[in-house]
Amino acid sequence: MGKEKQPYVCPAELAGTLDNLLRRLVHKPRKILGPYIREGMTVLDLGCGPGYFTAELARLAGEEGRVIAADLQLRMLEKMASKIRGTDLEKRVEIHLCQSDRIGIPGKVDFVLAFWMVHEVPDQQRMFEELKSVLNPGGRIWIIEPKIHVTEKSFKKMIARTESAGLEIIERPKISLSRTVLLAAKRGLEHAT
Ligand SMILES: C[S@@+](CC[C@H](N)C(=O)[O-])C[C@H]1O[C@@H](n2cnc3c(N)ncnc32)[C@H](O)[C@@H]1O
Repeated sequence: MGKEKQPYVCPAELAGTLDNLLRRLVHKPRKILGPYIREGMTVLDLGCGPGYFTAELARLAGEEGRVIAADLQLRMLEKMASKIRGTDLEKRVEIHLCQSDRIGIPGKVDFVLAFWMVHEVPDQQRMFEELKSVLNPGGRIWIIEPKIHVTEKSFKKMIARTESAGLEIIERPKISLSRTVLLAAKRGLEHAT
């Protein structure tokens, strides 16, 4: 039996390429997230990496909100945690270590941000099914993928997998350097897992 090809996972040594002044010129966290995140929400920052978006998510979710910062790599989570250590945001952020084939968060969420991470996941269909099962009614999943690594054709295949997992397209927001899709559970399937 042939071995399944494992996608490349951005290593923690390259965290600096994800969080730097140049990126702040093209990806402004508040401008990107502001229209979608409301106070009191529980947000999953899936594949948070060094936490480029985590602090802003926690600010927008407010004192009553919660952010689950989840990643496969402990060293990425440590980098994320070091940015909010000793600030008011620390108590709003839960740290969660994923397995490569299972996110494994307890409880449900209102919003999932998956920024530049889905192409690193070997079994995307399985992950989308798990995401649907942890979505509160009315919840949203925002997938944002880098054009440099994900062609239009492979993004279409990714969207087809979300549909097979019981998700539907709500919006196609525009983000620099990226292909994106905002999803919700298909109507009538909101409570099905
Ligand atoms: C390219 S980085 C993007 C980080 C961050 N979202 C950003 O936009 O700066 C992708 C991150 O996804 C994480 N990742 C990859 N596969 C994952 C999986 N199956 N579950 C959780 N995190 C994963 C990697 O460890 C890495 O930190």
